[in-house]
Amino acid sequence: MTKIIAALSVVLLMLTVACSSGESEHQPTATVAPVKSSSDTDHDSIVKIESATCGTGYLVNESYYDKLLDLYIKSNENMLSNLFPDQKLPDLKICEEIDDHIKNFINNQEKIEPNTKENPYPVSFGLNLSTRHLLFSLCYIIKPKIVVETGVANGFSSSYILHAIKDIPESKLISIEKLFFPWHTKKGVGLGIPKKLKDKHILKIGEGKDELKKIDEEIDIFIHDSFHTYNTMMDEFKIAWPKIKKGGILCSDDVSENDAFLDFTDSMNVKPLIISKSNNRQFGIIQK
Ligand SMILES: C[S@@+](CC[C@H](N)C(=O)[O-])C[C@H]1O[C@@H](n2cnc3c(N)ncnc32)[C@H](O)[C@@H]1O
Repeated sequence: MTKIIAALSVVLLMLTVACSSGESEHQPTATVAPVKSSSDTDHDSIVKIESATCGTGYLVNESYYDKLLDLYIKSNENMLSNLFPDQKLPDLKICEEIDDHIKNFINNQEKIEPNTKENPYPVSFGLNLSTRHLLFSLCYIIKPKIVVETGVANGFSSSYILHAIKDIPESKLISIEKLFFPWHTKKGVGLGIPKKLKDKHILKIGEGKDELKKIDEEIDIFIHDSFHTYNTMMDEFKIAWPKIKKGGILCSDDVSENDAFLDFTDSMNVKPLIISKSNNRQFGIIQK
């Protein structure tokens, strides 16, 4: 219980910091509930921590959902055939080993006390299986040299990207993660990534947009999965886009959290493709 109260205090602090650091224009409406009694569950505290570290948002334009619905693509296969009509899609049997690895990792982490150095990120932070397969397929088809992602947590997305690029010469994944809580450490970022895939992994600890600015190589694929507030998403899109090579991909998880993704794609005059995930959240992709 003491740990939960401590966690909630830090969450409150984090939200205050976010409010005062440039998130004012499209600030999420999320409020922090008062600290509850002993009936409070770990789940409640995890939900609040998710709000503080992954962000919450709200839709500004009422027509936003209608617009998203118009852009829906029904399946990963449709999405990939739409983007790459001449390419053969990978057989996802190649992912069986990594699928099992992540499944076992989730089972193990669920037995460890949360908010500790051994279990620093809720497994619920990770991309779902279908979106991990989509990322794997994108990397498998594009054969990228440089993939960049913001938001690592346990490293589910990282694992599938690294699995897809493992045999591509001179390829690498640059992952950016910010440490928020006392139980967050560099060593604890990407705990789910198989050791044998780590040689192509470059982990940068810091604020997404600041670390993105430092990247001077051309990016093949950029994935936003850090803090899903309007300003954070928009800042990352604006910084990443000029660095992405022609034909390259920008994608974002949770594009229905706020209108940043559609505002950005409108401003760049590119048509986004949106895929609906099973938990009623949306993943968006644009090609440069
Ligand atoms: C949704 S989780 C990432 C999940 C990961 N992509 C996966 O599939 O396992 C979001 C992560 O972004 C991190 N984060 C939040 N705001 C950030 C920021 N401004 N810069 C970098 N990382 C941030 C959080 O600490 C959290 O671990």
